Amino acid sequence: MLVACFFAVCLGGGTRCAAAAVTAPGAAAAGPQVSLIPQPREVAAVGGFFTLSAATSLVAMGGPEAQRCAAYFATMLRRSRGLELKRQTTARGMAAGSILFDLRPGEGGAEEGYRLEVRPQGVVVRAAQPAGLFYGAVTLWQLSTLSNARPILIPALHIDDAPRFRWRGLMLDSVRHFQSPEFIMRYIDWMALHKLNMFGWHLTDDQGWRLQIPKYPRLTTIGAWRVPAGAAAQHDIDPATGRPRLYGGFYSQEDVRRIIAHAAARGVTIVPEIDIPGHATAAIVAYPSLGVQTDPPREVPSDWGVYPNLLNAEGSTFRFLEDVLDEVMALFPGEFIHLGGDEAVKDQWKASERVQVRMRELGVPDEEALQGYFMQRLGRYLQQHGRRMIGWDEILEGGVPPGAAVMSWRGVAGALSAAVAGHDTVLSPEPTLYLDYRQGPGSREPPGRGAHPVTVEDVYRIEPLAGALAGQAPRVLGVQANLWTEHVRLPEQAEYMSWPRAAALAEVAWSPPQLRNWDNFKARLPAQFARYRKLGLHYSNTVLEPTLTPTTYQRHMSQDLLTCTAKLVLNLEDDAPLSGPRAVFLVDIENPCWRMPQVDLGRPLQLTAAVGQVPFNFQIGADRDSIHLQPPHSAAGELNVYADSCEGEPLARLPLAPATANEAVTVLPPVRLAALGGSHDLCLRFAQHGLDPLWVLDWLQLAPQ
Ligand code: ACM
Repeated sequence: MLVACFFAVCLGGGTRCAAAAVTAPGAAAAGPQVSLIPQPREVAAVGGFFTLSAATSLVAMGGPEAQRCAAYFATMLRRSRGLELKRQTTARGMAAGSILFDLRPGEGGAEEGYRLEVRPQGVVVRAAQPAGLFYGAVTLWQLSTLSNARPILIPALHIDDAPRFRWRGLMLDSVRHFQSPEFIMRYIDWMALHKLNMFGWHLTDDQGWRLQIPKYPRLTTIGAWRVPAGAAAQHDIDPATGRPRLYGGFYSQEDVRRIIAHAAARGVTIVPEIDIPGHATAAIVAYPSLGVQTDPPREVPSDWGVYPNLLNAEGSTFRFLEDVLDEVMALFPGEFIHLGGDEAVKDQWKASERVQVRMRELGVPDEEALQGYFMQRLGRYLQQHGRRMIGWDEILEGGVPPGAAVMSWRGVAGALSAAVAGHDTVLSPEPTLYLDYRQGPGSREPPGRGAHPVTVEDVYRIEPLAGALAGQAPRVLGVQANLWTEHVRLPEQAEYMSWPRAAALAEVAWSPPQLRNWDNFKARLPAQFARYRKLGLHYSNTVLEPTLTPTTYQRHMSQDLLTCTAKLVLNLEDDAPLSGPRAVFLVDIENPCWRMPQVDLGRPLQLTAAVGQVPFNFQIGADRDSIHLQPPHSAAGELNVYADSCEGEPLARLPLAPATANEAVTVLPPVRLAALGGSHDLCLRFAQHGLDPLWVLDWLQLAPQ
């Protein structure tokens, strides 16, 4: 039973008092609460407090796993509260005022569940499985970080907790940008602190191959390295080679073993992804015989988007893939291996005589069926080795092998089809669970996909078993949010994009739906943010901070303006300077045009604009041909300023010549806008000869003349 109960916490001989409450999340929060994320299944206050101090001893019963959970709690307490507890490995002589971690394998109980009893006399965390005991440790740690007050008082309560879903996932793309093994382990730490348990690790793609496979060394000596896009990278010469410096990296088998052990100790299973038959350019560059074309790509590419390169269907390619999977299975102990299957545009297969011959030999009638053949053959290979394949929802198009699961990213329709066909499924719908979308409209957001923000609240409000999926509950393994990293170059950006949106996901995945309450969750965020600060996690505070709109004569960043269209809007990071902060531009790359509504042109104004130039490194297929650029009046081009429409004779032209030599942001000489009378929408568009580099607006400022 859930209760709302208030009690007074009196500190320092009663001179400082604060109210605390254990509040049911469904109820209106009437005061500071026991702020836990994700909200446990059942919390009941019993009155009073347990005092955690250096005199508290920590006891573990039930073997090494129990000791590990107790040690984890002790480490987290030391890191966040600076308190060192005495450790005991036996309950013999256990004093009052102890904390007991009690692993009781015979006891049954919900999968991954735990019970926590906090009494003034002592604390007991009990579970039937190590994962449950670990989550009990996480909850107890959260209870010890409700405030900074000393002594540390934990409200006496009873918690009975277990997760709603077994797949509570986060995916990190380590290809588009590479993160260090240490970062990966920290990321897994943060997942565990939110009771997230499935780490999807995107390890191969067009722009890199990140997993060492000793039998195929070129995958990482060649396939893990690329020259970044853009002029700045071209000018960044590596003295060792005399050529542009290469960007990249890979995880050695030793790195992977360390990461897996680290994850296992935190209840996190890693699901490695080897993406086939598309998203495979880096592998084809390393081993051209894997590709379809007679003139295969020779360098690992640096464009974002969907490349046309596919694996061929030769027997030797399947032997290569089986060898790779042998090594993947030898490293990763989890049940699932992700084989991608997404965005494999079939043009190369259609155009290749040799692939057509192979299709006849294999008895597959068309290219969709060939994709099905790939996934079924390799899915069966995994199954023969006691593993299960999972793939993106495109695998539904060519037939899903028995036992395989489907990760639904193009909405949730794929999840429903998979479930109806008898397959397990994980919900990962874009855009809501795509953490590469910016999470607010303002100019402080780091780079990301820009069309519309995906807020913490958007993530929080996802209901995995809505609509027809409600009838398929046994097939829905859970949910996963994905951090694709085309626009996420730095570790702190990856943290910012993940948290607290992944905290919202954790509650969706863990807590009973009837306890889900946005206002209550939001009220619990300040305590969670305080924990993040203690652990040095770079999170986004956007959910609690209002976005400020600049007034007329303040500087308007591109994010403060409107894009004229919303074809492919990105919050795009500059490619320069090579070190130090870079500008971030909100731009529709298929129509670089911005609007500022309702500008008072009753008097002349001075307009100053700052512009940048970025590489046009986007594989957008035929969409590229439909991008309309205005014809320039000079070799370097201009930024044109219009009133009301975006066509015709501009009010002003700002020549780009002063900016051409600067790879970073240039403030152009100001121009005068003549008085037109009344309010007008300003429109700003570039007139340029070619798409690459793409000119972008960083900011504009208006001043009375
Ligand atoms: C995907 O976003 N291509 C799965």
